[in-house]
Amino acid sequence: MAADHELRAAAVVMVVVVVLGMVTTSSAHVFVGAYNTTCPNAEDIVYKEMTSILAKSPELAGPVLRLFSVDCFVGGCEGSILLDSTPGNKAEKDSPLNKGVKGYEVVDAIKAKLDAACPGIVSCADTLALAARDVVRLTKGPYIPLPTGRRDGNSSNAADVAANSPAPGATVNDLLTIFAKFNFTAKDLAVLSGAHTIGKAHCSAFSTRLYSNSSSNGGPTLDANYTTALRGQCKVGDVDTLVDLDPPTPTTFDTDYYKQVAAQRGLLATDAALLLNADTKAYVLRQANATSSDEFFADFIVSFVNMSKIGVLTHSHGEIRHKCSAVNPPSPPSSAAASMLATSLAGSLLFLLAGVLMLLF
Ligand code: HEM
Ligand SMILES: *[C@@H]1O[C@H](CO)[C@@H](O)[C@H](O)[C@H]1NC(C)=O
Ligand SMILES: *[C@@H]1O[C@H](CO)[C@@H](O)[C@H](O)[C@H]1NC(C)=O
Ligand SMILES: *[C@@H]1O[C@H](CO)[C@@H](O)[C@H](O)[C@H]1NC(C)=O
Ligand SMILES: *[C@@H]1O[C@H](CO)[C@@H](O)[C@H](O)[C@H]1NC(C)=O
Ligand SMILES: *[C@@H]1O[C@H](CO)[C@@H](O)[C@H](O)[C@H]1NC(C)=O
Ligand SMILES: *[C@@H]1O[C@H](CO)[C@@H](O)[C@H](O)[C@H]1NC(C)=O
Ligand SMILES: *[C@@H]1O[C@H](CO)[C@@H](O)[C@H](O)[C@H]1NC(C)=O
Repeated sequence: MAADHELRAAAVVMVVVVVLGMVTTSSAHVFVGAYNTTCPNAEDIVYKEMTSILAKSPELAGPVLRLFSVDCFVGGCEGSILLDSTPGNKAEKDSPLNKGVKGYEVVDAIKAKLDAACPGIVSCADTLALAARDVVRLTKGPYIPLPTGRRDGNSSNAADVAANSPAPGATVNDLLTIFAKFNFTAKDLAVLSGAHTIGKAHCSAFSTRLYSNSSSNGGPTLDANYTTALRGQCKVGDVDTLVDLDPPTPTTFDTDYYKQVAAQRGLLATDAALLLNADTKAYVLRQANATSSDEFFADFIVSFVNMSKIGVLTHSHGEIRHKCSAVNPPSPPSSAAASMLATSLAGSLLFLLAGVLMLLF
């Protein structure tokens, strides 16, 4: 009898734990297919639009992929990079560190298509995340099953950028420190840097490596021939010219980036610096020698999905922005959100009660 009671009590506790677990985990997570019922074609719409954008303007691939990483590492993947400055607030996009960041119009164009199909359903943060995911696929990289359900943040502050963005002179330890803030490892750093297999950098991002004798970051020097070629592309004082990050295959998502870095042809000092840490170096050399891109692709999927989850806002947090460059105007003091929350809480409680009752009787 007593044992029976203990068993029941234990079962009740288990039910409570499981239900509470369901409630709390589901409210903090993004998941694959979040729009399956609310906007079933959302991912197809993004893919179709991104396909046509890149067919017309292949040079937008790099900027859109970078835009997403810049969003995630500062304040999370909640679309704060997309917000414009307002009187009295300088936004992230106007930080000097983000001067070269672009591709905003791509997000706006895709968001317009999404809103035409499903008004007010898909966030700007998810629009950017899915667009970046599709850049990888459309440049012959892996298909990344991407969790969605991100909502948009309501703030963006230029002053937050520096702490989470590697400065141009960052050492590999600086990079590892930034990554560690997100529990990302040296492997994640080596893998995500592989995104530099596509896209371009401004001369200003690496010209000190061409015209100064101090080996930047104490790092390996640039291959002499490559240096000569780059001096031809970036004259002294040129800050604007764009140069391929991975010259052999600048528009293909592949392992060539690692071959470049291994051969002292990493364009950015932070690319070259991957040779200065045992773990990142081992990864670079392994991929440089790899006969297939399978391992890199599998690793990239894992690290990219982890990156895409940084600081996400879900459920009652955040909003679905109408315009990606501005937070929504204050809504009339409607209680829509509050009543939604109340309904879902009441639902959970009812479920809980039913479970307890079933066990007891
Ligand atoms: C590990 C730390 C990283 C550093 C220090 C870094 C730094 C940079 C810099 C300085 C540029 C050149 C920007 C310019 O001159 O316009 C660049 C470009 C780029 N970055 Fe990164 N990045 C990092 C991580 C990432 C990640 C995680 C991704 C995406 C997953 C990424 C994707 C790109 C792409 C695609 C470009 C080319 C942009 C274009 O074509 O306009 N980067 N990065
Ligand atoms: C949404 O649909 C996709 C494709 O059919 C499936 O892989 C995914 O698990 C679904 N997700 C949800 C939450 O229904
Ligand atoms: C990193 O991991 C630690 C220990 O597991 C955890 O407490 C912390 O919240 C994690 N940080 C982030 C940003 O996920
Ligand atoms: C990244 O994802 C993998 C696989 O899902 C997981 O095991 C790992 O803990 C994640 N790392 C972080 C920092 O989220
Ligand atoms: C570095 O210094 C050496 C010897 O002083 C000189 O020959 C070389 O041209 C310099 N390189 C650069 C990039 O200034
Ligand atoms: C550098 O260029 C010279 C002359 O063009 C060439 O003979 C040599 O093989 C090149 N070296 C490397 C490492 O590419
Ligand atoms: C590639 O593998 C060969 C043989 O295992 C090794 O000698 C060479 O150093 C490797 N190259 C790189 C870039 O790791
Ligand atoms: C902005 O978002 C934060 C966190 O989600 C929330 O606490 C705050 O009330 C929001 N502020 C405005 C003005 O919407």
